[in-house]
Amino acid sequence: PLSSYFALILGYALGSIPFGLLITRWAGTQDIRSIGSGNIGATNVLRTGRKGLAAATLLGDALKGTVAVLLAGWLIGANGALPAALGAFLGHLFPVWLGFRGGKGVATFLGVTLALAWQAALVFAAAWLTVAFVSRYSSLAALVASALTALAAFLLSSPQTGLLLLILAVLLWVMHRANIARLLAGTEGRIGKKG
Ligand code: G3P
Repeated sequence: PLSSYFALILGYALGSIPFGLLITRWAGTQDIRSIGSGNIGATNVLRTGRKGLAAATLLGDALKGTVAVLLAGWLIGANGALPAALGAFLGHLFPVWLGFRGGKGVATFLGVTLALAWQAALVFAAAWLTVAFVSRYSSLAALVASALTALAAFLLSSPQTGLLLLILAVLLWVMHRANIARLLAGTEGRIGKKG
């Protein structure tokens, strides 16, 4: 129905705000697209050495997803939540403002999950922190956490939410294909290491 498209577009509008790029530009660092992995996400912002900017990027990229879902739910009702989550995630991955070259979706995945199924967001946080602490690979932590979160949503929330998060997790894995290749080759950068 029409309201689902509205929620999708609302989500996209919020999701396409590239916080990492805006925050680092505002702070006057090097263009993050020219350092490290070239990604606009918090992990790569951390490679500038500015922890506060990385934290702000994580917060902004996550909360835009949370806000999109809550706002759509408030404006449209329960049917707005899932399309808004999809829109926000796609907006972050493919922002029209940046020639459709956006981020890899980790923070926004967490943000929409928080609004859709907070128990699953706890699973994400626990899995991400555990894998990141042990391996020091942000990408590996995100790959494991996203898969477990989709599974957790099936078990703890609803089949619809589980299916949506599974689709987002698959997209997240696709966006991490270069990271996966580097992990397999043993050349992936560790958290906080410039490179
Ligand atoms: O998306 C964040 C993390 O999973 C990978 O970031 O910059 O190492 O490619 P990066």
